[in-house]
Parts: sequence; structure tokens; C-alpha cells
Amino acid sequence: MKEVIEELEIRRAKARMGGGEKRIDAQHKRGKLTARERLQLLLDDNSFEEFDMYVEHRCADFGMADTKVPGDGVVTGWGTINGRVVYVIAKDFTVFGGSLSEAHANKMIKVQDMALRNRAPVIGLFDAGGARIQEGVAALGGYGEVFLRNVQASGVIPQISVIMGPCAGGDVYSPAMTDFIFMVRDTSYMFVTGPDVVKTVTKEEVTAEQLGGASVHTTKSSIADGAYDNDVEALLQMRRLMDFLPTSNLSGVPELPTRDPWDREDTSLNTLIPDNPNKPYDIKELIHKVVDEGDFFEVQETFARNIVIGFARMEGRTVGIVANQPMVLAGVLDSDASRKAARFVRFCDCFSIPIVTFVDVPGFLPGTDQEYGGLIKHGAKLLFAFTEATVPKITVITRKAYGGAYDVMSSKHIRGDLNYAWPSAEIAVMGAKGAAEILYRSELGDPEKIQKRIDQYQARFANPFVAAERGYIDEVIMPQGTRMRICRGLQMLRNKHIENPWKKHDNIPL
Ligand code: HXC
Repeated sequence: MKEVIEELEIRRAKARMGGGEKRIDAQHKRGKLTARERLQLLLDDNSFEEFDMYVEHRCADFGMADTKVPGDGVVTGWGTINGRVVYVIAKDFTVFGGSLSEAHANKMIKVQDMALRNRAPVIGLFDAGGARIQEGVAALGGYGEVFLRNVQASGVIPQISVIMGPCAGGDVYSPAMTDFIFMVRDTSYMFVTGPDVVKTVTKEEVTAEQLGGASVHTTKSSIADGAYDNDVEALLQMRRLMDFLPTSNLSGVPELPTRDPWDREDTSLNTLIPDNPNKPYDIKELIHKVVDEGDFFEVQETFARNIVIGFARMEGRTVGIVANQPMVLAGVLDSDASRKAARFVRFCDCFSIPIVTFVDVPGFLPGTDQEYGGLIKHGAKLLFAFTEATVPKITVITRKAYGGAYDVMSSKHIRGDLNYAWPSAEIAVMGAKGAAEILYRSELGDPEKIQKRIDQYQARFANPFVAAERGYIDEVIMPQGTRMRICRGLQMLRNKHIENPWKKHDNIPL
């Protein structure tokens, strides 16, 4: 028995060394942790249970028969984050650059299947070069199986990807089908084909950072939902994120203890809106002052900053926040903002997370740039997403709600459950100046006359009461009581149940 136990220890120790000391040192020198070090930080102490530590590839081509490493470039298993089960897949860059063989794929598939069967999230830590080139189609087949499971799990269990090294091919396509992607600045890259291939094919010379670094994907492409300075920060933030997320589409939202009273009033909100309707203010101030303990996990913070999205809690229970940001482009809805918010709304709806929407929107952004870029279709995504969502939806109009954007931003007409407006709300087809100039074009030459028309329109529509008179607004509320109203509303809506008509799936304008 003693020898068998010793054999086990030797085998375990060998597997834990991955690609060996030299490659582990190289990983550390690049500022990256190893797969196992990462899991230790991500998961609760001593909670990690590893699977398939001794799995090796079965490839004999290109001299591979002599280069077997137990574990084969990926560490898989399960553990807990603050006591809740998660399944994990951590690519080991020290073994064949974390590339995926058939055997490596089977390890991933096992965990994906277990996660779906047992209804718990999957977190993937990616640091890998895609399909293992020596294995050819066997590796491609392996990726196909992984992709299939990504899709099957979509909307059933949360899937989170953290990009922690150079990632290409299947190691970007699998993350692309998960719910959220986070990156590490300066050490992680995502591209379908790397700089060398780009140079050969298009003669373009770009660095890995320019092609697919965190700044590109969090500001230009919107592929990544956030970026952190190093591995440690990224993993700690993933622990924080997981505390907001349900474990599955049937589990309901997690509930954490809070010391923040549900009926806390904040009188500073009464002066948040500037007297001048064209002056901006920071919508994040409102979010921080309303949610539990000011704790807001923002997603896509640096992309389409004219809309703010993220997770928070009200009375300890997770909500999704969607808010126009008057500080950026006056909070206008453009293609990027619409796409960003639409995907978030659909995530919340998949996982029964109630949505709280703060509205201050002057409309959709006009211009050829937007129209040629498909604003109609992208704007429709947000309209579609809010409309189909069956989770509790509470909307607060703080100032402007103009035109089509009024309808889109979770209005009563598309099944907003509770629609509130602050006394400063202006709900109209457009701003008073624009309206008067269209309606009274013949009077444009007479500034006095046109100003009178503007004043008339302003007096009639620059308030919440025309909408409230029709029941489109349930109540005009004092800003200071916003938290209390939302908390009470969410309590009242706790058992909300509506269903859309049966369909195979909808046909959202993609
Ligand atoms: C086998 C690989 C590999 C791969 C890297 N390695 N990628 N081995 N298959 N796909 C090995 C390298 O040979 C090297 O081994 C070690 O990993 C580290 O790689 P380096 O190149 O030295 O590291 P770095 O300079 O940091 O560059 C990392 C990289 C680059 C950007 C990931 O290696 C790269 O471009 N790899 C190829 C990417 C790719 O084209 N993959 C196939 C995609 S197709 P040694 O022994 O020297 O240390 C795909 C299909 C999926 O994935 C379908 C999608 C729809």
C-alpha cells in the first residue's frame, strides 16, 4: 500500500509541475500566474477538486509521442466561491501553450457537461493558442464539441471567461459564446489570427497589443466587458462578480445580508438635476446613492459610455441597472450604446435578474455615420430586448425621455411594471426648441415669435404630468425617496410571472 500511495504522490507532483520549472518561471517573468495559482486565488481556500489530472494526449505525429505531459495543458474541476459551487477550466500555457488536443477537449467537455447537469456556473481562465496544431482535425473536432456545449449552456448557467494570456482561434471563439469576457491589461490578447498571420495576409504590421490587447477590446471592439491590471485583481473581481450572479436560470438571484435600510432616503438627490436642462450630471452618482451600500459592479465601463450597465443589489438581492449617462454625448442612444445595453438586458432576463432603468435620454443620435452603421437595427435590439424581457422591470425617468428613446427605455408600453418619474422629467416627442422650429417653420424669421412657441411647448410638455395623466407614469416621486420606491416595488413584484407566446426562439434583429 505504501508504494501505491508514494506512486500517487509522485504522479500528482509531476502533474502539478505542468510544463516544468523553466516554463513556470517564464510564465511568472511575464507577470502571469500559473493555472493552479490562479485557481487558488479564484476559489475558496481548499475547495478545489481537480479532475483528470493524469490525462495525456494520444497524438503520435510530429514527434508528439515522446512529449506527454499529465494534464495536457488544462486544469479542470470544481470548487466554491463564497460557498457557492462553480466549475472551472484553467488553461496551462506552460504545456504546449495551453493548446487544445482531443484529450484536452474531453477534459473541458466533462466539466461543461457536469456544470449543465448540476446547474452551476462555469468560469474559464484562458491563456492558450487554440487548436493544437500537431493534432489537426482531432483538435478542431474537440473545439466543435466545446462550442456545442457553450451554446447548450447559454441562458441556463452563467459562463464567464477571463483572458489571462495570448489567446487565439478556439480560445477566443469559445469565450465569445460565453456571457462575459474579462481581460488582464498588458499580458492578455485576443485575436482570431495573430500579428504574424496578419502581416502575411494583409501586409499590416501590428503588435499583439494593437491587434487584440485589453484596451482595444474594452474601448473599440467591445469584445471584453472589463479589464484589470493583473491576474490577482482580475480573479478577486471575478469572485465579486459571482456574488451577484444566480447559479442557473432556475435558481433565482442570490440574497446577501445588507446593513443598508430599504427605506433610506437621500435628500442630496433632490438637487442632482441641474436647473439648466442642457447641463450634464453624473448618473453614476444616482446609482451609487440608490443601491445597497453603493456597491455597483459596472460592465463595459469604457465602451459606449453614454449608457451605463452593471449589477447592484437592492435589499440584498441582485438587480441589473441600465442608465443613460448625461455626462457622455448627453446620454443619447447610438448603435454602440443600444447593442451594449441590449445584450445586458437579455442576460438579466435569462437569469431572472430584475432590471432597474434610469432614463435621461434626448433621443437617438442623428447622422449618416449612425444610419450607415445600422442604427435602426441596433436600436431595435434594445427595444426588442426590453420588450421581450419578462423579469420585474422598474423605470425611473429623471429628466429627458424624448422620442423613440422614451418608448425604448423600458416604458410602460413595452411592459414596464412600475414607471416612475421625478418632478424634473420631460416626456415628449422632442425638446421644445426642435419641436417649435418644426411646427412653426414659417415663424423662424421672427425670434420673438418663435421663442414664444418654444415657451408654449416647454410649458405643455416639459413635465411628467402629461404622461402621468394617461397612466404611462405610475407616480411622480420625490428624488430622495427613489431607493425606497424601488425596494418596495421589487418586493411587490417578487412573484411576477408572465410568459411570452410559445416559440422555438425569437428572431431578434442581430
Ligand atoms: C501547438 C502551440 C500552439 C498551438 C502555441 N504553441 N500555440 N503548440 N498548437 N496552437 C506552443 C508553441 O509552439 C510554444 O512551444 C509554446 O506554445 C508557447 O508559444 P509561443 O509562440 O512561444 O508564445 P507567444 O510568443 O507568447 O505566442 C503565443 C501565441 C502563438 C500568440 C498563442 O503561439 C500563436 O500564434 N500560436 C498559434 C495560434 C493559432 O494559430 N492557433 C490555431 C488556431 S485554429 P515551445 O515548445 O516552443 O515552448 C483554432 C480552431 C478553432 O483554434 C476553431 C475556431 C472557430
